[in-house]
Amino acid sequence: MTSTRTQRILWSKGALPEIRTAFCLTALCMVVTYSHLRAQTADNQITIHTTEAKDTISRHIYGHFAEHLGRCIYGGFYVGENNSEIPHTDGVRTDVIEALKKLKIPNLRWPGGCFADTYHWKDGIGPKEERPEIVNVWWGGVTEDNSFGTHDFLNMCEALETEPYLAGNVGSGTVQELADWVQYVNFDGVSPMSALRQENGREEPWKVKYWGIGNEAWGCGGNMTAEYYANEYRKYATFVADWNNTGGIFRIASGASSDDYHWTEVLMKNIPHQLLEGVALHHYSVIDWSNKGPDVDFSEEQYFTILQKAMFMDELIEKHTAIMDQYDPEKDVALVVDEWGGWYEVRPGSNPGFLYQQNTMRDAMIAGTTLNIFHKYCDRVRMANLAQTINVLQAVILTEDEKMLLTPTYHVMEMYNVHQDAVMMPLDIETKDYMLGEEKLPAVSASASRDQNGVTHISLVNIDAKNPQPINITLEGGKYSKITGRILSSSQLQDHNSFEDPDKIAPTEFKGAKLSGNNQLTVTLPPFSVVVLALQ
Ligand code: AHR
Repeated sequence: MTSTRTQRILWSKGALPEIRTAFCLTALCMVVTYSHLRAQTADNQITIHTTEAKDTISRHIYGHFAEHLGRCIYGGFYVGENNSEIPHTDGVRTDVIEALKKLKIPNLRWPGGCFADTYHWKDGIGPKEERPEIVNVWWGGVTEDNSFGTHDFLNMCEALETEPYLAGNVGSGTVQELADWVQYVNFDGVSPMSALRQENGREEPWKVKYWGIGNEAWGCGGNMTAEYYANEYRKYATFVADWNNTGGIFRIASGASSDDYHWTEVLMKNIPHQLLEGVALHHYSVIDWSNKGPDVDFSEEQYFTILQKAMFMDELIEKHTAIMDQYDPEKDVALVVDEWGGWYEVRPGSNPGFLYQQNTMRDAMIAGTTLNIFHKYCDRVRMANLAQTINVLQAVILTEDEKMLLTPTYHVMEMYNVHQDAVMMPLDIETKDYMLGEEKLPAVSASASRDQNGVTHISLVNIDAKNPQPINITLEGGKYSKITGRILSSSQLQDHNSFEDPDKIAPTEFKGAKLSGNNQLTVTLPPFSVVVLALQ
């Protein structure tokens, strides 16, 4: 059994040792009796503290990421204004807009990734036929014609009703170039950049709030040391001005790669916090960078390892947060996990530089467990971006010419979006282990929240590849009379939606939860399934 418990009994300093011993013995008897009883009933126990809900799950945890990489922008979002085969608005696919609106995506990061530190935004404005062609050096060495630029992206965000998150070029750009970009998109007074924007057809500024100051500065963004980057950041961030119209500009420092705690420490220590609203973190679930394993025909061992890597997110956030807490106990600076997801070998036959992979029930497990982790730490993790939206890595949408499909990851993100801006309910969980040989992982993960209409939602994931998991849930302090639910499951872990069978995996109604009394629930989760319950 694996358990996550809140420490609720505190010894007073003056308590007599004998009283302590007596209490311990009584408590021990109670624990033994209780575990014995539980062994005969259910194996998993969740206690949700409904009256202790205080921190909001920011909707921005449900953000996405669109890089000029492979077929994410070209062919994914954008098919060009002159394409008559695929329905579009200003070149952006209509089917994609509809699907992403249903997902309620709160923000979209662009134009990279590694591409961002090679991107010169002025190449992507003005008449399309006059825009320069460049080489996309990081992703396949293909020619980038810059036909999708700043106006295209920001207008698309308006159509998607999502907030743009622009990643500025620190690696190969200049402070002036970034300052100009901010002025171009945000300034509503008279200035050279606002005049240029108006000349290019856009009167009103877009009011972009979220700005990344470089990307992966420790790697493709310039191979900098943390100390060097912190100084660069201070300089760049100084010139990313608010222009008084965004309601507070939000600058995000290029963050650590997984467990590089030194990076976070240096940024938190060396950057004045009045220049810093967020610190990023990138963590991919990958078996081994030199042999990432197949996207579909994976073994159970490979599945287990990927889930292990995904669940490592919990430890990562805990430790990065502990460092941030030392320098920012008020939690003013957000931890922004602006790249996360599963990364496998590319689909056989596809361009290795395009990072195109299928998306199976394994990815649904990554999504469900990771979002539960983000919810748990929602007081610090206030933004995150799944990598990436379409046709790249753990995508929510795949396209093939005029065809489009929604992946299992899409369905999890859609089922979970009821938690956006809801108040998180802390919970304690005792879960059985998912065993593979001698190795184990917690089988069940969960999170809960109350939305603005007073509805409580509980998200449950069973990652066990073979065993169903019965769960007893106590909603401490709650009173409920009605329950509904949805489930995402399939018969094989490797199952996925294909262009031949695009709806093989989709959420269905879940009737397997029973409410007894006001606040006791019993649920059995099938192997590798995700369930979201609504209680009123
Ligand atoms: O998401 C693909 C790439 O992964 C991004 O461009 C980069 O930031 C990361 O290394």
